[in-house]
Amino acid sequence: MRILFAGTELFPHVKVGGLADVLAALPKALRNLGTDTRLLLPGYPSLMREVGPLEPVLALGDLMGGGQARVLLGRSPAGQPLYLLDQPAFFGRGTPYGAAGDLPLRFGALSWAAAHLGRHGDGQGWKPEIVHAHDWPTGLAPAYLALEEGPRPRTVFTIHNLAYQGLFPADLLAPLGLPAASFHPDGLEFYGKLGFLKAGLVYADRLSTVSPTYAREILGPEGLGLAGLLQQRNGELRGILNGVDDEVWNPATDPHLPHPFGPTGLAARAAGKLELQRELGLRVDAEQPLFAIVSRFAAQKGLDLVLDDQAWFAAQNAQLAVLGQGDPELEARFLAAARLHPSRVVARIGFDEGLSHRIYGGADAILVPSRQEPCGLTQLYALRYGALPVVRATGGLADTVVDATPEAIGAGRATGFAFQEARAGGLAGALDRAIAMYRDRRETWTELQRRGMAQDFGWPRAAREYLDLYEELLRSGD
Ligand code: ADP
Ligand code: GLC
Repeated sequence: MRILFAGTELFPHVKVGGLADVLAALPKALRNLGTDTRLLLPGYPSLMREVGPLEPVLALGDLMGGGQARVLLGRSPAGQPLYLLDQPAFFGRGTPYGAAGDLPLRFGALSWAAAHLGRHGDGQGWKPEIVHAHDWPTGLAPAYLALEEGPRPRTVFTIHNLAYQGLFPADLLAPLGLPAASFHPDGLEFYGKLGFLKAGLVYADRLSTVSPTYAREILGPEGLGLAGLLQQRNGELRGILNGVDDEVWNPATDPHLPHPFGPTGLAARAAGKLELQRELGLRVDAEQPLFAIVSRFAAQKGLDLVLDDQAWFAAQNAQLAVLGQGDPELEARFLAAARLHPSRVVARIGFDEGLSHRIYGGADAILVPSRQEPCGLTQLYALRYGALPVVRATGGLADTVVDATPEAIGAGRATGFAFQEARAGGLAGALDRAIAMYRDRRETWTELQRRGMAQDFGWPRAAREYLDLYEELLRSGD
């Protein structure tokens, strides 16, 4: 089966969040199942440099006023065939979603290129049966395919995050080459605006999102204005939980860890904690519980709950290490918290892949208090690396972390701590339970660590579910 993925991030070349990890790992897992899965991404400078040699396969002319566009074919260092949309005026600078005013035209060009590649192939004898678009930047790809007459590949659209909808002024319809007749509430219109994500939801043959719980949640209040549409399409919507790429996230072989460790190597892990405390300038002390956060700073992540509870860390003689970037207000508040509690709280503002691995492999617990979390990968990495996740029970967090209630502990199922309420007190309750177990029932803590580390969150299962979806779609012929 031939599948074309269209997206905007790819670990390790271009990464903002979990989408990069998914777009690196899932095509690999699908290839392992015998499919010919390829990706189309923007020709960002890092990709143009790091992926090669690049062979020009298609000349697309001027796309969306961004100048001459070409499709180049290369291979990622991991051996995955990769098409890059080479259009320097659009993609030759900046970060993927930078504040540039031409964002809709850029991602319109990317979506159009995906549709073109889907309908006509790469000119070298390769044409996909399925075009699988990911998140709002590629939401127009299913629309371009559906709105034009003629044979076309089947389409799948995956929601990684409903909070980013790609809403733009309606007067972009013409420059984007979209028919005016498609601008209505059952088409491209979202309350007077052109909706890229909505386009994917309306026009793709099948929809998916990245966890079963999130697939249910978005049919209700979490649907952010799209619940009605998603309810209509519920029969074609699946929740498929993301996985963990064992080649990147394996504490036994991780080159970023000072002391790699296997499931029985918790002593090496403890040594890693001390090194992490040293690296971060915290007090080096094996007995002080070290809580940590690795996160984009965005409202969805619920980090304000941690800031509201910051006094808890001082009161409990616990440490908090934060690695993240994004919302300037959250950055400032974490830096202020670190100034206020210098021996307890440290905030590293920035993106640091290596440090993120050392945090998962050295911290005692990872906080993920998200208000919404479609899947979440950080809690999975935490589990794999022996840090207990403390999460709000939402979306993929609810699907992957088993709260340490007395019953779950008794039944040998608990893997972390979960709370329900996204308000003051909710997180603190879970933190109290975590610290009590850490201090008074260390053998239970260790049992949870080992259970998490032994869990199978591999990509083969998820890839199998996507393949089932593609097979059903190709059979159905609709
Ligand atoms: P989201 O995609 O919403 O950001 P996920 O949990 O799915 O959330 O994925 C986040 C990914 O980004 C993980 O791989 C995490 O380790 C990584 N990450 C987030 N912030 C940083 C950072 N500041 N430095 C390094 N890695 C980060
Ligand atoms: C999004 C979501 C996150 C998910 C990731 C990969 O960024 O916020 O929950 O894990 O996509 O699917």
